[in-house]
Amino acid sequence: MELAKRRGFIWPTSECYGAVAGFIDYGPLGAMMKRRVENIWRDFYIVQEGYYEIECPNIAQEAVFIASGHVKGFSDKMCQCPHCREYLRADHVAEAGNIRNASVMNNDELSQAITSCICPACEEILGNVEVFNFNLMFSTTIGPGSQRVGYLRPETAQGMFVDFPRLLRFYRDKLPFGAVQIGKSYRNEISPRQGMIRLREFTQAEAEVFVHPALKNHHPSFPRYKEYRMPLLTWVQQERCEDPVEMSMQEAVDRGIIANEYVAYYVALTHELLVTIGIKPERLRFRQHLPDERAHYATDCWDAEVFSPRFGWVETVGIVDRTDYDLRAHAAQSGTPMTIFIQYDEPKRTKRRRIIPNMSVLGKQYRTKAKAILAALETAIPTSDGADIRIGEENIHIPASLFEIRDEVIEVRGEDITPHVIEPSYGIDRMCYAVLEQAYDEDIADGEKRTIMRLSPNVAPVQVAVFPLMSRDGLDIIAGDITHAFHRKGILAEYDDSGAIGRRYRRQDEIGTPFAVTVDYDTKDTNSVTLRDRDTMSQARIPVAELTDTVGALVAGRIKFASLLK
Ligand code: GAP
Repeated sequence: MELAKRRGFIWPTSECYGAVAGFIDYGPLGAMMKRRVENIWRDFYIVQEGYYEIECPNIAQEAVFIASGHVKGFSDKMCQCPHCREYLRADHVAEAGNIRNASVMNNDELSQAITSCICPACEEILGNVEVFNFNLMFSTTIGPGSQRVGYLRPETAQGMFVDFPRLLRFYRDKLPFGAVQIGKSYRNEISPRQGMIRLREFTQAEAEVFVHPALKNHHPSFPRYKEYRMPLLTWVQQERCEDPVEMSMQEAVDRGIIANEYVAYYVALTHELLVTIGIKPERLRFRQHLPDERAHYATDCWDAEVFSPRFGWVETVGIVDRTDYDLRAHAAQSGTPMTIFIQYDEPKRTKRRRIIPNMSVLGKQYRTKAKAILAALETAIPTSDGADIRIGEENIHIPASLFEIRDEVIEVRGEDITPHVIEPSYGIDRMCYAVLEQAYDEDIADGEKRTIMRLSPNVAPVQVAVFPLMSRDGLDIIAGDITHAFHRKGILAEYDDSGAIGRRYRRQDEIGTPFAVTVDYDTKDTNSVTLRDRDTMSQARIPVAELTDTVGALVAGRIKFASLLK
């Protein structure tokens, strides 16, 4: 991390005032790398999947988070160290003290469990401490002098749920469809001590895929990933302390290990995406949530976890089948229907019992209540004696003489259903952390220690360096022209003519630049340059005319450097 700070990837925010835990700045190289990670995510979700990106405000009104359950239930368990007064996350204290299942304990159980645990701040034994819930949302008020409560969003997801009616129209009233969003989310984490892993302001990339509940085992593109294999750590294996088992997505669905094709599809896509940005497959696993760890509305949930030598297995992506919970909750809170009309292939004939009220009598007898009574009778279940209905707080008995019951056969063209939502939710900062941590390496070059960031070329901030061997004799002019040619092709090239060539290579190795071009005296005669590969340090001679296309293909992963050496 020292290198990441020194070379401008990330650093603590507002350092001159004393940094605040849970907030970071991405420096010039970090911000560029993060953008590249986000754009690879877009390649998967927008280009491949065809789900359009939307952008909702970071602040939303209270009603949104009452419906979502965040106002009532989005809290972590907190305690305060009686010695140093530091606020602590009680379940993390317990886990550090090797207490199992801390995440599913209630406040009293946790309070008992941590008495002999150590405060991570002052290292004293905690003793008896109260554990209480702390809501993680940042609240604000909307407008000057206003009493209107708002919250900074704790996830980007809710914006996409509340937009469901408009999205449905955009996608021409057809399922399945998806909306995606990349943006900031905010959680007032209790004691964030893990740098980029636990932030109070962080970036999420989330997809909400709206599907017909009866068709969750019919993902239209499932054949793309059905043979995709990876190790899965199911909840059963976790309970038996067994290792993950490798299997294909088809097998996982057939054996009922993954709930349905949609969840399996996004598990495989996530694996491919993480490997594409440079996560090593051997440091990646998919862990299923234990039944009591899962949100009560979720039918299946898998976390993509990346192994960090510093922090252990870190949850980086969550893939959840959220059922119809969110749409139903927002429909109930807002009064706006969140359903879709699904037409049957063939209309169905069905029996219907209708209550036909005698309006002339009902109207006179019940006057102002007549309209409400009429509406209530439509869904009443009458007996031979009459129908009991409820209007507001009042129970009313409508005698059988005031309506007629008619049994009819009607044709039904379709039904209103509430779609289910499959949600892959990515933490971009955790992805960037894993990329940086895994890329860091040291080796020996020309008898000297070399520090190197082995970043995948598609996420490296600077994609190619251009060096004139000497900054004279026209070599600098040729190198300048080559740099501009790269820029015109959208390739970020950095021109560097200062210091010995070896030093220039080291500087670029340290920031992960995958390729370097050297313009030498032969360039003038042969119109070719050397292209150096960061990882192997091997060099190939490339005609200047082919240089931008070659480097473009290397960065995009269409060709490997070894193919240039033949
Ligand atoms: N909409 C679902 C949702 O927000 P989550 O598991 O709470 O689910 C999804 O968050 C991802 O967001 C996590 O897997 C993680 O990568 C990232 N994330 C969550 N809290 C974070 C934090 N405090 N700092 C950095 N990333 C975080």
